[in-house]
Amino acid sequence: MKSLVILISGRGSNMQALIEARLPTRIAAVISDRPDAAGLEIAKMYGFETKVLDPRSYSLREAFDTVLAETIDAYEPDLIALAGFMRILGDGFVNRYRGKLMNVHPSLLPAYPGLGTHSRALREGVKIHGCTVHFVTPRVDHGPIIIQSAVQVLPDDTEETLATRVLQQEHRIYPEAVRWFMEGRLKLSDNRVEVSNAVINGSVLFSPGLHQ
Ligand code: GAR
Repeated sequence: MKSLVILISGRGSNMQALIEARLPTRIAAVISDRPDAAGLEIAKMYGFETKVLDPRSYSLREAFDTVLAETIDAYEPDLIALAGFMRILGDGFVNRYRGKLMNVHPSLLPAYPGLGTHSRALREGVKIHGCTVHFVTPRVDHGPIIIQSAVQVLPDDTEETLATRVLQQEHRIYPEAVRWFMEGRLKLSDNRVEVSNAVINGSVLFSPGLHQ
């Protein structure tokens, strides 16, 4: 069975969604760059091995990346899933895991890379927002897109209400993307991802909606 290592920095709700999806994969370990990440307790509760690598113990970013890579490689995972891992990884690290490093991001990339995605979306008045699962490449939040989910931005949305609805979608699409990877259904060529046997139904999302 293929195996997965999950990297977290905080709450760990996407990690939990991956765990609870009962994917056809063995979760070899959960690694956090923050000793106080709440997700570590969740991972332990489920009986998974956890590791903490604190960047403050390393003076150079490359040194941290090297130790992180060594820690990951000890588990020989087929895939590494960044699940709210908030540290930017160096090019060397990212290139080492090309096609094996996935991330979930709370926006419809390439819109709103980086932080504060929901407040930026609200400030700009977009009517449709969402989340993206993509392969990681050296350019932060720009790698090949695997799946996206869109939500309507509602007139009375706050950052919190919008974040909650987007997060629900993250929890739907991230396990799906990992499942596709584990089933060998993702083909990555150049900057595009092909998903074999994907459901393509031509659905359209309007926001605000149109009368029928
Ligand atoms: C999620 O919304 C995830 O998309 C985001 O951090 C949150 C982590 O929540 N990740 C990024 O912004 C990465 N660029 P979680 O710890 O509950 O999964």
